[in-house]
Amino acid sequence: MHVYIEDIGAHEGEEVTLKGWLHARRSSGRIHFLIVRDGSGFIQAVMSKAAVGDEMFKTADHLSQETSLRVTGTVRADTRAPSGFEIDVKAIEVVGESHDYPITPKEHGVDYLLDRRHLWIRTERQQAILRVRHEIINAVRDFFNARGFILADTPIFTPAACEGTTTLFPAQYFDEQTAYLTQSGQLYNEANAMALGRVYCFGPTFRAEKSKTRRHLTEFWMVEPEMAYADLDDVMQLAEGLLVSIVGRALDKRRRELTVLERDVSKLERVQAPFPRISYDDAVKILQEKGLPFEWGGDFGGPDETALSEHFDRPVMVHRYPTSVKPFYMKPDPQRPEVALGVDVLAPEGYGEIIGGGQRLDDLDLLLKRINEHGLPKEAFDWYIDLRRYGTVPHGGFGMGIERAVAWICGLEHVRETIPYPRMLNRLYP
Ligand code: 4AD
Ligand code: MG
Repeated sequence: MHVYIEDIGAHEGEEVTLKGWLHARRSSGRIHFLIVRDGSGFIQAVMSKAAVGDEMFKTADHLSQETSLRVTGTVRADTRAPSGFEIDVKAIEVVGESHDYPITPKEHGVDYLLDRRHLWIRTERQQAILRVRHEIINAVRDFFNARGFILADTPIFTPAACEGTTTLFPAQYFDEQTAYLTQSGQLYNEANAMALGRVYCFGPTFRAEKSKTRRHLTEFWMVEPEMAYADLDDVMQLAEGLLVSIVGRALDKRRRELTVLERDVSKLERVQAPFPRISYDDAVKILQEKGLPFEWGGDFGGPDETALSEHFDRPVMVHRYPTSVKPFYMKPDPQRPEVALGVDVLAPEGYGEIIGGGQRLDDLDLLLKRINEHGLPKEAFDWYIDLRRYGTVPHGGFGMGIERAVAWICGLEHVRETIPYPRMLNRLYP
């Protein structure tokens, strides 16, 4: 009977068949130790000459890394095995040979590995990361679904910018028009929230950013909730709840993977509400006290975010940035129009911004003024302006980049390992 390695514990003493690939092999004269993987886990299969006979034993003599094979044998509990079980092999059947597999247990450079990303994902570490990613995505969906948010998808081909015109990817849209790959579903989300109350979109987003940092991809996945009748405090509370929930889920369901990644989980266990909420003004003071040459009025760069996020042991919410550094759609604070009712959530341990959002500009005249000031084409935004013409309400939401959240939760150096096929300034292959 075929079983997956992750379910092997339910079959102790039974004869089972695994369908997988040879991850590694060690042999002594009379025994082959085969590490087999099938996508759900890794297990050692012990093949002795005595049990399988000379001929079958010989077929395993030259089995090489990543040969695909079916392995039939008996499940035996073994306290020394990482999974708690081993297989005593009765028979193996090679499905597809593999010669000179390019990724060996020795160290390879990261460009070499990225060029072979389609194979690199077979390693235990990369599998662990992709499993944590899967869990986080599920946790995000569960979080919003359990709170009455409706998933409403937003378009990928769009006629105009959302997050600034300098990072748009154009695409020829039939003969006449240029479309742009979406930078964010937010503007459509706002319309959807006026229809459905609480909504979220969750899809790929694109930024033609020429930055080569450990936090930037040109294609990344973003989840964006949006709420009608909400203010900045509601937005911060929602962001806090989401982060507590997804970190809790990773700790609960993906311990094994976090162990493979050698993640210090005590740091994740500290991610509990309430998170500190500090104003941009206070954040500037912290940076200046740390000796960074930062002046009020600028946007934080990567090193500033790193310094701020290292200052706290849990995510920190920085609110009320200067209106001038934020996009046209942010609502200026009525008490103090030089700052906007926006928030960035910075992850601890130097991971920087993982969430950005805030309260939206809901006043028609002010919105028209801001669109003008930002030099945006009013015609392209006419539908968006309608939301202020027909029953405008205070509203807000945020966007969380999945890859940044995964990099933080897994404790990775760079976002490039958090998505199966990363797209970056110099990478479009494989
Ligand atoms: O701060 P950003 O640009 O905000 C928006 O796009 C808003 N319209 C979202 C909203 O309010 N609905 O992006 C939000 C998040 C960032 O905090 C970050 O996690 C991620 O998206 N992000 C990136 N992740 C990877 N690579 C990039 N180049 C990213 N740019 C933003
Ligand atoms: Mg941002």
